[in-house]
Amino acid sequence: MRTVRFGIIGGGMMGREFVSAAARWLHLPEMTIRPEIVAVCNRTLDAPKIDWFRKNIPTLTQVTSDYRELLSNPQVEAVYIAVPHNLHEEFYTAALDAGKHLMGEKPFGIDLAANESILAAVRKHPDCFVRCASQFVFFPAVQRIGRMIEAGAFGQIIEVNAGFLHGSDLNPRKPINWKRIVKDNGEYGVMGDLGPHVCTVPFRAGWIPRNVRAVLSNIVRERPDGKGGMAPCETWDNATLLCEAQDPASGSAFPFTLRTERIAPGQKNNWYIEIYGTRASVRYSLNEANTLELLEYTPGGAQSWQKVGMGHEVTYQSITSEIFQCGVCDVILQMWAAFLYELERGETPGRFAGCATPEESALWHKLFTAALESQASGATESISDS
Ligand SMILES: NC(=O)c1ccc[n+]([C@@H]2O[C@H](COP(=O)([O-])OP(=O)(O)OC[C@H]3O[C@@H](n4cnc5c(N)ncnc54)[C@H](O)[C@@H]3O)[C@@H](O)[C@H]2O)c1
Repeated sequence: MRTVRFGIIGGGMMGREFVSAAARWLHLPEMTIRPEIVAVCNRTLDAPKIDWFRKNIPTLTQVTSDYRELLSNPQVEAVYIAVPHNLHEEFYTAALDAGKHLMGEKPFGIDLAANESILAAVRKHPDCFVRCASQFVFFPAVQRIGRMIEAGAFGQIIEVNAGFLHGSDLNPRKPINWKRIVKDNGEYGVMGDLGPHVCTVPFRAGWIPRNVRAVLSNIVRERPDGKGGMAPCETWDNATLLCEAQDPASGSAFPFTLRTERIAPGQKNNWYIEIYGTRASVRYSLNEANTLELLEYTPGGAQSWQKVGMGHEVTYQSITSEIFQCGVCDVILQMWAAFLYELERGETPGRFAGCATPEESALWHKLFTAALESQASGATESISDS
């Protein structure tokens, strides 16, 4: 069993999820590589946040508030960096310059220029393995959809709708945090935060938008600052992007709608995708994470939707019974399995069985940048493929 020693930079929500995934590696009996977390860096080292890491990582030997110290630790072979978007460029490029393998977080740079700088560092360090966290593709139903795309099961694509909807920002009393501040989160607003997750499957399928008409809205314009006052909340809350995409398999163009919303009443964490094709169609939503809706069509036959219970049909074999439902923590574990599997073998068991690539992140940035232009111009903006 090969061991990869990891450092975590950013001990927030996502940093903790990695600690939990690494602790559950015993779920994955076929893996021949495993992570071992030896270092944690966070901006502040206050209890109880940092105590949680100390208490729960028996292999931890370094805790620091300076990411450069962690990157100069020769024990650390790979890093997971989960920090606010304004720090991605500096931290990711420094990690690569230090020769570390990198799992970065979306959106892989606060804007297009930052993303281009990260991609230049990726090209400069071909020996570093670099991927972006993208767990939703590992839900069993989504893996099944991916295999259908690979097999050309949909026929000619008629329409694709994908989205990610949250509802908690409907509450105007929810205090502001960095994800709602332009300088930390970026001009993209909700697109930079939720959009990469929405793009992962369609972009991997090769359904790349050629143009976009975006309608963005800032619904709640100020929020409690947590100190008794109010602070401006300038980020886009909701974004609807109507794009024209082309299916590389059939060459035909089709409408592709992406929605990212922080203010979607009644929604908690609803990632969804709908693909309508001439031979098959699917609908999938995390609101019913165990169920894939599938319509298979033969010319002249009935057009009837069936509901398929997915259970634990995961790509990286798990000890969990195949009839047990899969949850977000399970797919985060699958995502880490994919990262390490590909790091070790240089390939994945299928086209949709790998994490998002830096090249895919460049396509997100082109789309979101064009969407900002579309919102400003009120017109459809084309997206260059250069
Ligand atoms: N994959 C997903 O589903 C998912 C979900 C949420 C967030 N994210 C992404 O993860 C990243 C972090 O988001 P989060 O929700 O974990 O945020 P968070 O606010 O919970 O955590 C960020 C952490 O970074 C630390 N930090 C800030 N500045 C630092 C510095 N200079 N040095 C070291 N640490 C520093 C903060 O102290 C905090 O603990 C973002 O890129 C976000 O888009 C991904």
